Amino acid sequence: MSLKEFNDLAELDPAAVESLLKLARRLQDRPEPQALAGKVLALLFLSPSLRTLSSFQAAMLRLGGGSFVISPDMSIHGLETRSGIVMDGAAAEHLREAVPVISSYADALGIRAFANRSSLEDDLSDREYKAMRELVTVPLINMESAIQHPCQSLADWKTMDDLGIPRQGGKFVLSWAWHPRALPLAVPSATLHMAAMRGMDVTVAAPEGFELPEPIMARARAAAEHSGGSVRATNDRAEALEGAQVIYAKEWSSTRHYGDRLADAELREQLQDWCVDDPWFGTTAPDCRLMHCLPVRRGVAVTDRVLDGPRSVVIQEAQNRMWGQMAVLYQMIGPGA
Ligand code: CP
Repeated sequence: MSLKEFNDLAELDPAAVESLLKLARRLQDRPEPQALAGKVLALLFLSPSLRTLSSFQAAMLRLGGGSFVISPDMSIHGLETRSGIVMDGAAAEHLREAVPVISSYADALGIRAFANRSSLEDDLSDREYKAMRELVTVPLINMESAIQHPCQSLADWKTMDDLGIPRQGGKFVLSWAWHPRALPLAVPSATLHMAAMRGMDVTVAAPEGFELPEPIMARARAAAEHSGGSVRATNDRAEALEGAQVIYAKEWSSTRHYGDRLADAELREQLQDWCVDDPWFGTTAPDCRLMHCLPVRRGVAVTDRVLDGPRSVVIQEAQNRMWGQMAVLYQMIGPGA
């Protein structure tokens, strides 16, 4: 199965996901240090990263290839992202030239685009990422856009497989978590879809005003219908957590007040008890795990005692980013292409 793009896990059929997971495990067990010899991966970061940046670089090194990173923080000419504007401000370079130039030096390109968080419609349609996609002439990897994070989802799927968490019938709770700022919908959207594709019984638990948008829910319900799983949403956290085998905590914006920073802040002000702590596990399955994509604010989204305790698998998730991405690169520009 060769890959020309890796934009959204939902664009792959279940057999293709299975094949990537199998390859990731194989590369973990039996290294192939020359598989990508002579290959170059370009990494364009338009927003900050620790895991994605380092796991892609490590993945290329482990497979014998190389990578280079471009971000607006570096000593470049700034990067203008808006269309149709007169560039008389600080940035002297536009993405319309930068993306094809960077692509021309590489065999594949990864882009982290992020959400602008002003228009829900624009972010749900991944408008900015799709516009950049048009400029790319080599295989492309979505390293997180307004509404997708397929590399995180692949790693999370593998992490649950590694831990023996059941696919069919596994009880997965995606829970909103407290954060002082309005964060994007990419991880909750991608995570919901991944768990639904995996055949799990998924509950989204979120306070009023933070429900995931209906198009995201509908897409996940359709995936669950196909996989034999189920998807539902509730504002009742205590009820959602009963019997959970996984609590996946994630912070996200108010969808009722999307793009309205003050209204969002007012709504979340009273929600500081949505910080995952030991009592959350009172009625879950005894071996319920805590998942989070990281970075996580300790004592804000999740307490120290949960993060430092045996339930937390956040480091395994982060490590699986590298194995999963190695499989993607192998199929995209390596022997599997
Ligand atoms: N989970 C994740 O994508 O982490 P970074 O933002 O650090 O890359």
